[in-house]
Amino acid sequence: DIDHAYILDSFVFISVGYVGNKSAVFPLQLLGYDVDPINSVQFSNHTGKLLIPLHSNSLTPETRCEGQVLNGDQLWDLIEGLEANDLLFYTHLLTGYIGSVSFLNTVLKVVDKLRSINPKLTYVCDPVLGDEGKLYVPQEMVSVFREKVVPVASMLTPNQFEAEQLTGLRITSEQDGREACNILHAAGPSKVVITSINIDGNLLLIGSHQKVKGQPLQFKILIPKIPAYFTGTGDLTTALLLGWSNKYPENLDKAAELSVSSLQALLARTVNDYTEAGHDCQSSSLEIRLVQSQDDIRNPEIKYKAEKY
Ligand code: ATP
Ligand code: PLP
Ligand code: MG
Ligand code: NA
Ligand code: MG
Repeated sequence: DIDHAYILDSFVFISVGYVGNKSAVFPLQLLGYDVDPINSVQFSNHTGKLLIPLHSNSLTPETRCEGQVLNGDQLWDLIEGLEANDLLFYTHLLTGYIGSVSFLNTVLKVVDKLRSINPKLTYVCDPVLGDEGKLYVPQEMVSVFREKVVPVASMLTPNQFEAEQLTGLRITSEQDGREACNILHAAGPSKVVITSINIDGNLLLIGSHQKVKGQPLQFKILIPKIPAYFTGTGDLTTALLLGWSNKYPENLDKAAELSVSSLQALLARTVNDYTEAGHDCQSSSLEIRLVQSQDDIRNPEIKYKAEKY
C-alpha cells in the first residue's frame, strides 16, 4: 500500500532556493524519503518572472534581489566533509538549476564520487536550460549537458525546449517527442520523461523507459493547459517522478500518472486560492500551494491516465 510505504533513502539535492529545493524537498519528505538538500544559491526572493505572493497587497514587481551563490569549491568542501566522516553513501542524487559550467563540472565530480561509494546510485537530472524558446543558462552549458551530463544520468526530465537542445531535433509532434527520447536513451539514461510538449494548446507528457536496448516502453499523458503561469512546477514534477519511480521501478507510466495527478490537484488548488483572494491568474506567475496540497502528494487520486504506445 503506497500510503504506508516507508522508504528511507538519502539524497543530496542541488538546485536553487526559492523555486528549486523549496518545491522538491517537502514532497520527497512526504513520500518518505530522507533528503539532504544543498542550496546552490540562496536568494531573498525569486529572480524569474514576476511572482506575486498570494497574501501580498502590492502588485508592484519586486526587482531587488539579495543573496549568495555557492561555487564549485564550496560544494566540494561539503562532499569532502561527508566523506571524511563516512557519510557519503547516497542512493539518489537529484539536480536542478545549475548556473555555471564550473559548478556543473563539480556536480559531475560529485556524481563520480557518489558512484564510487555506491555503484547503484540513481542520478535524476532535470537538465534546466530554458523554456519557451529561450535559454536561461549560458549557451556553453548546452554542450556540457549533452556531452558529459546526459551520459551519466539514470533519469532525465527535460521540457520540450530542453529536449530539443539536447538532441538537435525540432519537436512539434508526439512522434518527434518519442524520437527525442530514443536519442536520449542512446546517449545514456534508461528513463526519460519530457515533462511537457505544447501541442494544440494542450500539454503532453511523454515518458520512455528503456529496459531492453532499442525497445523502449513509451507512453503519453494528456494534460489540459490551465490558462495561468506557475513557477516551481518543473522542479516539483522531477521530485515526484523520482519519488514515485523509486517505489514503482518497473512502471514509469504509473509513476508518471501519480506525479501528474498530484501536480494537477495542486495546480487546481493554486488557481482556486488565488481566484478567491481576488487575483487575476493570467496577469502574473502563481506561487504553488505546496504545503496546502500535502494530502494530494501523499495519496493522489489517479485522474490522469497514461496511454501506452
Ligand atoms: P523544467 O523545470 O525542466 O523547466 P518544465 O518547463 O517542463 O521543466 P513546467 O513547464 O513547469 O516545467 O511543467 C511541468 C509540469 O507542470 C507539466 O508536466 C504540467 O503537468 C504542469 N504544468 C505546468 N504549467 C501548467 C499549466 N499551465 N497547465 C497545466 N499544467 C501545467
Ligand atoms: N531555477 C531558477 C533560478 C529559475 O529561475 C527557474 C524558473 O524560473 C527554475 C529553476 C525552474 O523553475 P520551474 O520549476 O518552474 O521549471
Ligand atoms: Mg515549461
Ligand atoms: Na522538466
Ligand atoms: Mg521549467
